[in-house]
Amino acid sequence: TPVRREAYQPLAYGVETVDLDFLLDPKATQVSSRLVCVRNPDAPAGPIVLFGEGLELLSLHIDGAEPAAGQLRKTDSGLELDVSAERVVLDIVTRIDPSANLTLSGLYQSRGGYYTQCEAEGFRSITYFPDRPDIMARYTVRLEADAAACPVLLSNGNLLETGNLPNGRHFARWEDPFPKPSYLFALVAADLKALERKVDTASGREVLLQVWVEERDLDRVGHAMDSLIHSMRWDEEVFGLELDLDRFMIVAVSDFNMGAMENKGLNIFNTKYVLANPETGTDLDFENVESVVAHEYFHNWTGNRVTCRDWFQLTLKEGLTVFRDQQFTADMMARASDSPDAAASARAVTRIANVRGLRGGQFPEDAGPMAHPIRPDSYQEINNFYTATVYQKGAEVIRMLHTLLGREGFRNGMDLYFSYHDGQAVTCDDFVGCMAEANGADLDRFMRWYSQAGTPRLKAEGVYDPAGRSYSLTLSQSTPATPGQADKLPLHIPVAVGLIGADGVDLPLQLEGEAHAGDSTRVLELKDASQTWRFTGIDAEPVPSLLRGYSAPVILDVVEDDARLAFRMAHDSDPFNRWDAAQRYMERVALALAAEAAAGRPMEVPQAFGHAFRALLVNASLDPAFVAETLALPSEAYLLERMQPADPAPLRAALIHLSRELGQALQGDFLARYMDLEVDGEYRYHPADAGKRALRNLCLRYMMAWGGPTAVQLASLQFKTAGNMTERYGALAALVQSDAPERLEALEAFHERYKDDALVLDKWFLLQACAWRWSADAPATLERVRALMDNPAFSLSNPNKVYSLLGGYFKANAAEFHREDGAGYAFWAEQVVALDRNNPQVASRMARALEGWRKFTPAIQARIRVVLEQVAGAEGLSPDVTEIIGKALA
Ligand code: ARG
Ligand code: ZN
Repeated sequence: TPVRREAYQPLAYGVETVDLDFLLDPKATQVSSRLVCVRNPDAPAGPIVLFGEGLELLSLHIDGAEPAAGQLRKTDSGLELDVSAERVVLDIVTRIDPSANLTLSGLYQSRGGYYTQCEAEGFRSITYFPDRPDIMARYTVRLEADAAACPVLLSNGNLLETGNLPNGRHFARWEDPFPKPSYLFALVAADLKALERKVDTASGREVLLQVWVEERDLDRVGHAMDSLIHSMRWDEEVFGLELDLDRFMIVAVSDFNMGAMENKGLNIFNTKYVLANPETGTDLDFENVESVVAHEYFHNWTGNRVTCRDWFQLTLKEGLTVFRDQQFTADMMARASDSPDAAASARAVTRIANVRGLRGGQFPEDAGPMAHPIRPDSYQEINNFYTATVYQKGAEVIRMLHTLLGREGFRNGMDLYFSYHDGQAVTCDDFVGCMAEANGADLDRFMRWYSQAGTPRLKAEGVYDPAGRSYSLTLSQSTPATPGQADKLPLHIPVAVGLIGADGVDLPLQLEGEAHAGDSTRVLELKDASQTWRFTGIDAEPVPSLLRGYSAPVILDVVEDDARLAFRMAHDSDPFNRWDAAQRYMERVALALAAEAAAGRPMEVPQAFGHAFRALLVNASLDPAFVAETLALPSEAYLLERMQPADPAPLRAALIHLSRELGQALQGDFLARYMDLEVDGEYRYHPADAGKRALRNLCLRYMMAWGGPTAVQLASLQFKTAGNMTERYGALAALVQSDAPERLEALEAFHERYKDDALVLDKWFLLQACAWRWSADAPATLERVRALMDNPAFSLSNPNKVYSLLGGYFKANAAEFHREDGAGYAFWAEQVVALDRNNPQVASRMARALEGWRKFTPAIQARIRVVLEQVAGAEGLSPDVTEIIGKALA
């Protein structure tokens, strides 16, 4: 039964303080909890509501006494207690089995240590509690564990005391001075070592920073520590927000469902987003570590100090925090640049990565059965709603506020938000209300972004009037129907616009009625279904550049012929739009080739496209990172979304053909750029170097796509002599994305070198899962994936392994997964059901690989329906997978 947003009710009793005592034991951990429950005067009368899941209740006392007959009731979700006092002290003792907990939610074990993950509703499988984000309490925690197995005992806040106990046990006591919801509770008891730094906050308070990892990983934590310090400084400078604790800890754990978790003062991370050194991490890993560390740190204010009233408000903290981490990354990239132009390009590269993620991950979600507004109206399982929509589209919505209100206006809104709501659990309306109030802005229509699902279509039509020397731009919007939302209303959309003159230079813009021309980029605010703007003083027909910087998360529908796309690819002064023009052109070419392939006709790459592509490739004055983004193919996931009906096999044929043709036609240029982009000296993670490596690796991939001895030699040489993981992995990826026999040798050498290194092996699994088949006689990927599941390093109970090998195959290798005999689907059904027995969250993520099945050809749909129904009929399916499959079949 779904939970509904409208049904929100405050609980009759809140909690003032929580005192927890953990006697940690692998099979029988005893959890004692003392709760001071207090009547909430703003809520209707009712019992004390305690959620609990899979708990063994050992004892419960109300103000020191056993419950009276009938006072305590068992419910589907836990317990209810009838009390009449304003204040009640509950003592509850439960027993749990962390070693048997494979869900990685609640208290679980990983490599001998104990870790918790409580968001969203994991706390209720630790102890009985009103486990909702609007119940904020002050916590103290006592941990007791075996001193040899778990020398380190951590929880939120400040350390009060440690000590030894008989029988080789020891304890620690912690206190968190800030009230928090239960989802931010955390504990860690494990054999770890820390890298430590002491730094001063802006106001001069000294704070202790620690990054805790297994001892063998200590040589990989420097970058996470640097990232943490940069994040602290950035939040002080940009938002005036300071760390509020004396100690801030990051802990890395190998078994973790998501990326990381912002528990107060004790962030727990997937090792993938903490560990990075040049030998084992790529430039992308360094970048990811930096942004995830920042994201979790920024949650301390946007999420922890001000939290969500209920889980429907998740985007309140996630959309805002993703926006903050994106801005941070852009600033860090710009700061490392040596000129204003370079800084603008570096910012655009960050923006491009954001938008690639949105288009490849969120657009499909918005077009499928799981489509939901960034603030959903209902859910069956909240864990299914940690989505690209809530996170990425949510961040775009915050970005639009930033665009509409300006940097200062946005900051004023943030200041007001903290002044009103610090220490509270609030809603998205509260947030937007502060933005409106601080700026005297009307954001009523803007709020529709929070309630409407689906990707809006923005249509643009321009008419040039030579006699009136004016250009009229008509913008129209419509949002397609989504499940449960047939009719949509117009949204408030900021559209950043520029007009490019025939010489390739932006025109200063003057709207009808304005005294003089101003900036060359203007933000038009589209609020109705359709509106027209007239630009005056225009001597010749301009080329419009629309949605600059991607000013709104919409699909732009504008008629542009190839020549116009090539023109903008060469001249658009907005680097984001320049990239976008190239991607649109490439998309057009790829989809046209796919149509030829589907019809069994020969494929031919238009020469004009090759010229436009080459012009960027050989332009040494452009930032290599930008060029790499511009010349990389759009993702298959995105192209499938654009192809109607979606058909993976001809699309794959088209992409293979396109990259081969480009590789051949431009072999000399690829080689020349490959040669002159070499980065000498010792590896450093720096945007300039990373950009060169990225473009160099891209050149290598195109060269390998064409093949031939030079390419294979270069790739093999780079693989053997690389001094860092970015180059080694880049060479391996180029080899694996080819039918060169050398790829097998390289895979083996890589495995041999890193067979004891879990994170590097994840890359090795991923590459093989994603590999295309470049010739008809190449072995099928599915058999390879099955065989790899027997590799001793693979494990279905480690999410990173599953995401690499199975996720890579299901989500990033469409042509192989959707093979005609349906074997890919049968494998999918088998794995989803197997995963679901132990870890529903991971199973659900894999299940989602087929939710977009209705976009495919009828023949493909028919095959997918069979396995969807098969999984739907499986016994004992979790609510997580049930919701996904149910919605897919609805
Ligand atoms: N709040 C975390 C983050 O985005 C995500 C944790 C969600 N975990 C879950 N199992 N639903 O930083
Ligand atoms: Zn987050």
